[in-house]
Amino acid sequence: MSAFLSVRGISKTYIAANGSKVVALDDVDLDVAEGEIVALIGPSGCGKSTLLRMVAGLDADFGGELAWTVEPRPGKDIGFVFQEPALLPWRTVRRNVSLGLEAQGDKSPKGRERVGELLDLVGLTDFAGSFPKELSGGMRQRAAIARALAYDPRILLMDEPFGALDAITRDRLHDDLLRIWATTRKTIILVTHSVEEATYLADKVAVMTARPGRIKAVHEVPLDRDRTPRTRQLPRFAEFAGMLRQELE
Ligand SMILES: Nc1ncnc2c1ncn2[C@@H]1O[C@H](COP(=O)(O)OP(=O)(O)O)[C@@H](O)[C@H]1O
Ligand SMILES: [Mg+2]
Repeated sequence: MSAFLSVRGISKTYIAANGSKVVALDDVDLDVAEGEIVALIGPSGCGKSTLLRMVAGLDADFGGELAWTVEPRPGKDIGFVFQEPALLPWRTVRRNVSLGLEAQGDKSPKGRERVGELLDLVGLTDFAGSFPKELSGGMRQRAAIARALAYDPRILLMDEPFGALDAITRDRLHDDLLRIWATTRKTIILVTHSVEEATYLADKVAVMTARPGRIKAVHEVPLDRDRTPRTRQLPRFAEFAGMLRQELE
C-alpha cells in the first residue's frame, strides 16, 4: 500500500475561556496508507477529536505538518461522520444523503444514481423517502455514512460513530462498514474508545496517552482482512484486544 497521509509532529494548545492553556496534542506522528483502516484509541480528552478535526481541515491552528501524497480539496475529498448523525430533520433520507452533492451544485443524473447506489449500500433504499425521526438510531447513522460517501471523498474520518448505539446495532454496523469498505476501499480513520471495535475493524491501531495526547504505540492487527462475527471468537482477537486494554491503563 502506498503512503497517503503522514501526520508529522502535530501539537495543539487550546487557550480556554479563562486564559488557561490546555495542551491537547504533543508531537503526534501517524502514517496512514491508502485504503487502510486506522483506529485511533485513547482515554477521553486525549485529543482524538482534535486530531481528526485537523486532518479534516476544520482547524488549521496547530504546530507540525500534515503531509498528503495528494492535497485534499476542502469539502470534496474528506468525508466526516460524527457520533451524532446530525441529519437535517426536514429532509428525507435521500435528500440528506444528497446534501453534499447539492452543496457542490451537482445535479447530474450520475450524482442521483450515486445517491441511489449508496442508499442501497447502506441498506436504506426502502427508507429513502422517510424522515430522520422515522428511523432507528442505527439507520440514522447508516444515512450519515452514506451522506459522507456521497461526494466520493478520498478519506473517511469517523469520530466515535457507533458510540451512541446499543451493542447489537453496533455489531451490525461494524459489518456494514466492512462491507462498505470492501466495495469502496476508502481510507478510513476511526476514533473509538472500544478496543473490541478497533480490533474488529482496523488494519492498524494507534494507542494514545492521556492528556497531553501522544501516540504511545501503533500495532498491526494480527487478523486476516476478512472479518466475520466469528472473528470475535478467535483467541487472537481476545489476546490483541486485551493487550490494547492493558496499554490504555
Ligand atoms: N475548543 C476548545 N477549547 C479549549 N479546550 C478544548 C477545546 N476542544 C477541546 N479542548 C480540550 O482539549 C482536550 C482534547 O479534547 P478532544 O480532542 O475533544 O479529546 P477526545 O476526543 O480524545 O475526547 C480536552 O482536554 C478538551 O477539554
Ligand atoms: Mg472526542
